[in-house]
Amino acid sequence: MSLELRRYDGDAVQRDETLRDRVAEVYAEVFAEPPYAEPPERGRDWAHGPLVRHAMLPAFELVCAEREGVLLGFAYGVLGSEDSWFAGYIRDHAPREVSDRWLGGHGELAELAVRPQARGLGFGGALHDAVAVHLTEAGADRAILVTQIAAAPARALYAGRGWHDLAELAPGSMLMGRSL
Ligand SMILES: CC(C)(COP(=O)(O)OP(=O)(O)OC[C@H]1O[C@@H](n2cnc3c(N)ncnc32)[C@H](O)[C@@H]1OP(=O)(O)O)[C@@H](O)C(=O)NCCC(=O)NCCS
Repeated sequence: MSLELRRYDGDAVQRDETLRDRVAEVYAEVFAEPPYAEPPERGRDWAHGPLVRHAMLPAFELVCAEREGVLLGFAYGVLGSEDSWFAGYIRDHAPREVSDRWLGGHGELAELAVRPQARGLGFGGALHDAVAVHLTEAGADRAILVTQIAAAPARALYAGRGWHDLAELAPGSMLMGRSL
């Protein structure tokens, strides 16, 4: 299966409703699975709601993995800021030394997802690496993400790429960090 990565900036994601529909379909399929068990309509709600707002954040870039025009996976990254809702949430739920060390000038990796039939072929790793390179080029020297402890494949991917646990923000929800 040949890998094709396409990158979309925030303007493209905001403008292109068809792209967001395609991303919604993958989101719905991937995050319907355990441990997420999101309801099917969540994909559309997310892709036409939170994703559009995130697309306005600094250095937003969506990376899509495609084969013959079929979207098989995606991930995105942004530059974080110390006064975002997300930073406030981390400050409220992680030890002070973690927020002091990791927030400010950091990158954020979000929503890495690969369709079940396309897994184990390197798409997830390639999407991760593309976002990490983008965040580095955008000026971040470290990155954070939040993942479910029960998401074993994602945890294995992150551990193999230098991420480590920083703090459990809520039961089962782990903040991880990595130097870039
Ligand atoms: C996590 C996910 C994106 C991995 O996608 P993928 O295309 O199968 O990943 P790859 O084939 O590129 O594998 C990447 C690495 O993860 C490891 N990995 C992937 N699945 C694994 C599994 N089930 N068990 C152990 N390791 C696994 C691979 O061994 C590989 O390691 P390597 O790069 O050192 O060889 C995919 O399983 C997925 O979409 N999961 C559901 C969504 C999710 O949990 N996203 C994370 C949200 S924070």
